[in-house]
Amino acid sequence: MKKFERHLITSALPYANGPIHIGHLAGVYVPSDIYTRYLRQKGEDVISICGSDEHGVPITLKARQEGVSPQEIVDRYHALNKKSFERLGIAFDMYARTSSPVHYETASQFFRTLYDKGEFIEKTTEQYYDEEAGQFLADRYITGTCPHCGHDHAYGDQCERCGTSLSPTDLISPRSAISGSKPVLKETRHWYLPLDQHEPFLRKWILEDHKEWKSNVYGQCKSWLDQGLQPRAVSRDLDWGVPVPVEGAQGKVLYVWFDAPIGYISATRELTPEWEKYWKDPATRMVHFIGKDNIVFHCIIFPVMLRAEGSYILPDNVPANEFLNLEGDKISTSRNWAVWLHEYLEEFPGKEDVLRYVLCANAPETKDNDFTWKDFQSRNNNELVAVLGNFVHRALILTHKYFEGKVPERKELTGFDREVLKEMGLIRQRVEKSLDQFRFREALNEAMGMARLGNKYLADTEPWKVFKTDPERVQTILNISLQITAGLSILLAPFIPFTMKRLQDFLNLEKSSWDLAGSDHLLPAGHPVKTPALLFEKIEDAVIEKQVSKLVATRQANDGGKASAVPPVRETISYEDFMKMDIRTATVVEAVRVPKTKKLLKLTLDTGVDRRTVVSGIAGIFDPARLVGRKVCVLANLAPRRIKGIESKGMILMAEDTESHLYMISPPDDTPNGSEVK
Ligand code: MF3
Ligand code: ZN
Repeated sequence: MKKFERHLITSALPYANGPIHIGHLAGVYVPSDIYTRYLRQKGEDVISICGSDEHGVPITLKARQEGVSPQEIVDRYHALNKKSFERLGIAFDMYARTSSPVHYETASQFFRTLYDKGEFIEKTTEQYYDEEAGQFLADRYITGTCPHCGHDHAYGDQCERCGTSLSPTDLISPRSAISGSKPVLKETRHWYLPLDQHEPFLRKWILEDHKEWKSNVYGQCKSWLDQGLQPRAVSRDLDWGVPVPVEGAQGKVLYVWFDAPIGYISATRELTPEWEKYWKDPATRMVHFIGKDNIVFHCIIFPVMLRAEGSYILPDNVPANEFLNLEGDKISTSRNWAVWLHEYLEEFPGKEDVLRYVLCANAPETKDNDFTWKDFQSRNNNELVAVLGNFVHRALILTHKYFEGKVPERKELTGFDREVLKEMGLIRQRVEKSLDQFRFREALNEAMGMARLGNKYLADTEPWKVFKTDPERVQTILNISLQITAGLSILLAPFIPFTMKRLQDFLNLEKSSWDLAGSDHLLPAGHPVKTPALLFEKIEDAVIEKQVSKLVATRQANDGGKASAVPPVRETISYEDFMKMDIRTATVVEAVRVPKTKKLLKLTLDTGVDRRTVVSGIAGIFDPARLVGRKVCVLANLAPRRIKGIESKGMILMAEDTESHLYMISPPDDTPNGSEVK
């Protein structure tokens, strides 16, 4: 009946440009770990692969901000994140890194194979170039206004507000993220993966053969396919990354989204010499756990790469989650709006499972969701402490009180007993069904249902009252309660592994394979159990208030930060210095776009002194037609410059705000041309 012999579970490789936060965890790593642990408990052959994504602009930008080398950045965060995952019990079989020699070799080889098979097209195009920094501006090196939603901080590869995938030339008023300057267009040659040629295959493979994918994933793929795919560049002009393994490609590296998913392959190679079994045998089931911003890369681009290579399997499912917000605001690394995993681990020692529990119970599976510290506290106090911990504790304590810590023998069963035992089996089946469909919140809720069942069973049967009159009945009640406890320790193990391990230790439970979870005979009569300690502690208000005030401080720092971002006044100059500048009022008499550029306008000005040409980078904000007749200020004695082959004589004065928005300095309409501005 089983179609698959083994499972390859991948989790999106986080960029090694910052620490892991709760958004990463809820979206990707907690669900992937639950799923992996579940399969392992079922005795399946499964490996779980992850690692650091160490290339791409996020890394080099961070390095530049801090004034250190990219290597220093990735070394720091790779070590921190690897350790933090371990401490949270995210049990990857391999946490590799894309700067490793095995990865370089695997990625180059992969590119080379596609190159040799003629799977790429080569194109020379104009791309944005920062003349101040002397470098091309790919992806996140360039920001500007999103042409779709108007968000003014869209990146060259994607708008984070509306999710649209962009190319830098789509941006309105593009700016360099390095120098803040307005980039120019310059020719460069790159290799492209012709996604359009794979469209018929993708349509069938996704839209027909994988209707079972989550609706958010399926829907995004469908909308991509319906819009029509374009060839996608797989190389970049950067000096950080895997060099393009082709003659004459100096200064070019593989696009980070080409090399990073290959990181799953190289990580598997580092894990086992049998890696090909996991990647090339159709009896392997590959599942990619990712966040929603990664869908196109894992459902369209990477599958096209794998298929073009020819010897690899494709993912069977891609259960992407939506985003988790924090206290009503989007999580942001740069604004420090996050709960950082490494800080949580320090501040809440021994509470790893509480975080795992809350993030799963509240996971953004079908829509974006909000994490709040209040909810964290109440789930801990009302669910983990009051339901789960309380039930387990009572069952074990009563066993010690009445039966010297040995599982009592089960006597005659009542109708209620039978119902409860039957329900245990049904709960396991429901948990299993939910997990098989990647519905982790539902699965957790079902599993917690077993603890609610136990509590209700004890409350209804009241063994503490019955013992005086009918100790035999209490034997049965506690036997059943202990079977529930043992069942829970298995069912909840994928979700809260540390605590369930402790519970299994209290129970001296040796066998904990998944299929035993619904069994009513896990613990035989006479089996000794230990005196329990509390599984969970109540979290007091003061602890939560401290976390909330940390966030309040961040919010204040961010708001204050905005005000002070206005640049300070520059060094003092003399009046004579100022008078060297000859600024005149003028009228725009003609305005046309400079061909083959997105933002340059060629303006003809009547300066009152002469008619002259000025090239200005304002096409992104001004429609040329609307400029004609407008009064402007021009720096008239600026040395002429050639821009795109046009001699530009002077500069139009603009005001620029802290977010690089430009505003025209316009004198009143009745100002005669040639008036001096001073
Ligand atoms: N680093 C990427 C991100 O954080 C994810 C890379 S996933 C991989 O969005 F498949 F490319 F590895
Ligand atoms: Zn947008």
